[in-house]
Amino acid sequence: MRIGFFDSGIGGITVLHQALKYLPNEDYIFYADTLHVPYGEKPKEEVREYIFNAVDFIANQGVKALVIACNTATSIAVEDLRQMYNFPILGIEPAVKPAVQNCEGKRKKVLVLATNLTLREEKFHNLVKSIDHHDIVESLPLPGLVEFAENFEFREEKVVPYLREKLSSFDLKQYGTIVLGCTHFPYFTKSLKKLFLEEVDIISGSIGTAKNLMRILEAKNQINDGTGDILYFKSGYKVEDKESLSNYKKLLTMLDKV
Ligand code: SIN
Repeated sequence: MRIGFFDSGIGGITVLHQALKYLPNEDYIFYADTLHVPYGEKPKEEVREYIFNAVDFIANQGVKALVIACNTATSIAVEDLRQMYNFPILGIEPAVKPAVQNCEGKRKKVLVLATNLTLREEKFHNLVKSIDHHDIVESLPLPGLVEFAENFEFREEKVVPYLREKLSSFDLKQYGTIVLGCTHFPYFTKSLKKLFLEEVDIISGSIGTAKNLMRILEAKNQINDGTGDILYFKSGYKVEDKESLSNYKKLLTMLDKV
């Protein structure tokens, strides 16, 4: 059986990219809800409806596990989804804990970048409250990066000015770790590095999610001997056109160099 990956758009490819490193012999379904991206700027109840429909479609294909490779969808729906299906459902959360551990000794701050919806959610506030005992965690919504990614706009000359403007009121030297709290953001790691101190760490939760997935499948004795084959779907239909398939391949290759 395949493993399902779900996102609003191409962000989930950054998590799939990590999973392919740990589980290269699995076969995958990647589902992007391209009709409704971006999730992070829409009302919560509307987005939850999109998520439930998409996951229902994926479940009907038959999967042995599902990764909600979208921070926004994880924060507003993962607990409910786990009640609805009998296969393991993993999410992805901002990697606040390792970021705080990394910064505390260095007297540096943590900056969490995500969507508006993720940063507004109680789940995020509770996470920060449980870890950030010295008030070193700050956050900033960057919806423009989701838009850039969905338009396949990765050129630094376009992205860096946007980031510069968004970060203009921040003292960038204060930050020791940047947390990528949206799966669309790892595509822009190089652009972000241009703005912060050279030694800043930029981290995301995708390695943790990929390792968890491997542990769960190992514990259930469900490791496959497949070929790393990926079937792509967009909002309910199978992607078969050469251009889209080649774009997905390009993204995976691009992430090898991040
Ligand atoms: C979005 O669709 O706005 C981005 C989703 C995410 O948080 O990864």
